[in-house]
Amino acid sequence: MLVHIPEVLTPDEVRYCRDVMRRADWADGRITAGHQSAQVKRNLQLPEHTPEARELSGLVSAALNRNPLFMSAVLPKKVFPPLFNRYDAEGEMNFGSHVDNAIRTIAATGERVRTDVSSTLFFASPDEYDGGELVVEDTYGTHSVKLPAGDMIVYPGTSLHHVTPVTRGSRVASFFWTESMIGDVTKRSMMFDLDMSIIRLNADHPEHPSVVSLTSLYHNLLRQWAAT
Ligand code: NI
Repeated sequence: MLVHIPEVLTPDEVRYCRDVMRRADWADGRITAGHQSAQVKRNLQLPEHTPEARELSGLVSAALNRNPLFMSAVLPKKVFPPLFNRYDAEGEMNFGSHVDNAIRTIAATGERVRTDVSSTLFFASPDEYDGGELVVEDTYGTHSVKLPAGDMIVYPGTSLHHVTPVTRGSRVASFFWTESMIGDVTKRSMMFDLDMSIIRLNADHPEHPSVVSLTSLYHNLLRQWAAT
């Protein structure tokens, strides 16, 4: 299940973040890579302990907390503090095919996060760079993703994915993982479909008695399946 979440950040927030990133010192992206992915990872990253990375990470986390579509699609239990990366045309930076590590430890707290859902939030608009598509292979085939600045894609942490070489400009993004209250992707995806159907029904026929019964069904299923 890939879900496009538009306008996670406002244009002002995108601009502000990019200004901060321009002033920051970038490091080799292999600092957070596992053994297999380190061999195919060619990009830059903001080291997570720097003041710039911490500030921007907080800003993105706050934006996620106010986003109902993210809440519905991901049902977050723990969110790994967002990280930031950059792929430049110089060196045709890219990230070969890999699967993200199953467990991530938050350095500051030692807390472990199971990476049920991966997210990429785009900071550069598609016309600023060539290449740099996020390509995700899931059970429904291969999806190539390149979104407007401020938009985000969420996809299953279980999927193989890669970023194609950037051949012009720079691709700047935030990426992070979420442990969901519902680890099983099939169940999580059904909950999302149910929630979206209830929202549509409520918009079109707010007086319909099924709005109440389906909402009740949604919450009772969540109670059955959620691990909090
Ligand atoms: Ni990855």
